This record gives sequence, C-alpha cells and structure tokens, in this order.
Amino acid sequence: MSSLFDPIRIGELALANRIVMAPLTRNRAAARQVPSDLAVTYYAQRASAGLIVSEASQISAEGQGYLDSPGIYSREQVAAWKKVTEAVHARGGKIVVQLWHVGRISHVSLQPGGIAPVSSTARRANGKTFTRDGFAPVSEPRALRTDELPRIVADYRHAARCAMEAGFDGVEVHGANGYLLDQFLRDSINDRDDDYGGPIANRARLLIEVMEAVTAEVGSGRTGLRISPVTPSNDAGQDSDPRALFDHVIDRLAPLKLAFLHVIEGATGGARDIAPFDFEALRRRFKALHPQGAWMVNNGYHRQMAIDVIASGRADLVAFGRPFIANPDLVQRLRVDAPLNPLRTSLLYGGGAEGYTDYPSLEPVGA
Ligand SMILES: Cc1cc2nc3c(=O)[nH]c(=O)nc-3n(C[C@H](O)[C@H](O)[C@H](O)COP(=O)(O)O)c2cc1C
Repeated sequence: MSSLFDPIRIGELALANRIVMAPLTRNRAAARQVPSDLAVTYYAQRASAGLIVSEASQISAEGQGYLDSPGIYSREQVAAWKKVTEAVHARGGKIVVQLWHVGRISHVSLQPGGIAPVSSTARRANGKTFTRDGFAPVSEPRALRTDELPRIVADYRHAARCAMEAGFDGVEVHGANGYLLDQFLRDSINDRDDDYGGPIANRARLLIEVMEAVTAEVGSGRTGLRISPVTPSNDAGQDSDPRALFDHVIDRLAPLKLAFLHVIEGATGGARDIAPFDFEALRRRFKALHPQGAWMVNNGYHRQMAIDVIASGRADLVAFGRPFIANPDLVQRLRVDAPLNPLRTSLLYGGGAEGYTDYPSLEPVGA
C-alpha cells in the first residue's frame, strides 16, 4: 500500500512525496510580466512539496487575461524564473511551470495594442477579469483563423523551450478551467466549422498539436496536462459528452507517454459533484493506455481524503491549492496532522508580501 508521504518517480522526475502544490495565480508579477523576487521566497518556502506546479504563466503577450500574471516567453522572464527554480532546487524541491493561454478570458486593456483577445469563437464569455482599473467584463473575442493556429502551437513550443532554459523540471499544459484549449475542446463554446470545430477529433486537434509540440521540445517524461472535464469556471458550459471527449483525448495522447495527467474533479474550487462524471473510469482508461503516466487528482482534498486516495491506488499524486497558499510547510503539517493556517482570501490576488510570503511554518523554514 502506498503512502502519501512515499517518494515516487514520474517520468524523468523523482519526487520526495506524492503531495503536489497546485497551480495558483497570485497576480504579483512585476512590470513586463516578470516574476518578482518575492516569488523566489514564496516558492522556496513551499519546496517540500513533492512537486510544485507554478502559477499559470502566459506563453505569449496575447495569452494574458489578468493583471500582473507572469509570462514565460521573454528573456527577462526566463532570467527571473531561473532564480525561482534555483531556489526550489536548492531546497531539494521540483517545479514545473504551467503554460497558459487564456483565450477569450481577457480584456482589451491587457492585450498588446489594445486589440480583441482571441478564441475558438467570437462569442464573449459571461465573466469578469481584473484589469488596471479593477474588475471589468471580459472583452468580445476574435475567432482565430485556421491559418493562425500553427502560430499558437509555435508559441506553446517557444514557451516550453523558455521553461527549460529557466531551469524548470518540466511543464504542465493548462488545458482546464475554460481557457483557450478548453475553449476549443468544448462544444458549448467552440462553434467553428473548420478542422478545429465540430466532431470531437476536430475540437481536440489543437490540444493534441500543442502536446506534440511541447513534448518534442521538453521530452515526454517532463510533460503533463491539466484538465477539468466538468468545471463551469470562466463560463465554460458543460460539453454535450465530456466522457467521449476526454476518452478521445486520453487515447490520442497515448503515443506521447506523458509524465502525468492532472485532473480537477468537479467544479474548480467548488462542488466535487457539480455534474455527473465517472472520473474512476477515466483513470482506468488512462492507466490502460498510459502505464507510465501518473494520475494526479485535485479539488477540495483534505488530509484523510488524500491519504485514502493514495492508499487505495485510485491516484498517484494529490494536488492541494488553497491549503498550500496558507501553509508553506503543508507536507510537514499533513505528516504530523498539525492544524492548518486559515486562508486570508482578501489577499489572494495582487499586492505584496502580505498573504503571500508571511504565512507561518511550524518551524522556521530551513531549520
Ligand atoms: C488563488 C487561486 C489561484 C488559482 N490559479 C490557478 C492557476 O493559475 N491555474 C490553474 O490551473 N488553477 C488555478 N486555481 C485552481 C487551483 O489550482 C485548484 O484547482 C483549486 O484551488 C482547487 O483545489 P483546492 O481545493 O486544493 O484549493 C487557482 C485557485 C485559487 C484559489
């Protein structure tokens, strides 16, 4: 029987335990979407996680949808991320970067040249984002032309190359939560009539092309994918057949031999039973076709749930989001069953050290 606290090897990565820090956007990047020095401290404090998945990071200027989220496409960003990865490695941790393109969940004021954000569709999402002037409704997008999609794939590939230059142990492609790749996957959003719309094989095409490009760049054993088959986040309506959609994705990814699949069960940060979906059946299909791949679960896990899901073999890794924000030493706290610090929700997005690097550990970090 495996324990949450046992080491595990996934792909090329040897992890000290099965506890993962989930990707968490904190909107504290400096000018030009460069991670700040505070991020170095923040991630180093959390390096006892078996694996850290960084906050979502834009693959291009066009991929940005929120104020002060970092990028992973410029020289300056690479240099700043290098300080983060070195600090995590110095403490014995492992860190992959989450590659992000928000698609239509953006605002013209966050886009280069103030133009419309891009998506699979020209229909605006019903939602808000955070801009220089506060919360604002997301802007009406422009549907990407078919001949522009190779450029999107190339942007992912470029960002993956930047990630390796920055010293990341690998990458997680953000295919979840109603952002660009999810905007192509779901028939509730994708209204295209080209080779990237309509039947499942077409809607999954961009994601598969991105995964092929990214694995070619960084290696399969350092690449993972995050999905959220039923989350309603960011005005992502339910797909008409999410099971068939994600069965297809899993089948098509099999030749790529990914290191892990990261699955958000239910509504991201909300109800785990938001819509019927047999995650265990999806896991069995994944394990049959990807014997080397780790199954990472997330969403509302507490200590006992995480211990049980690993012990039962229904997951290889458990990602914790909010608990890692408030508890830099979450692994130690889970190990000794110590109480967790409460989350200060008003300090999640934007600002400085407060609510970011000032959460206490049981013992001084590094002691
Ligand atoms: C402040 C905050 C920021 C988040 N940022 C991201 C992100 O950048 N990428 C992503 O895939 N999910 C993001 N999420 C979702 C979390 O990774 C996670 O799925 C969610 O919090 C549920 O896990 P938990 O119950 O352990 O917190 C974010 C959630 C929160 C609360």
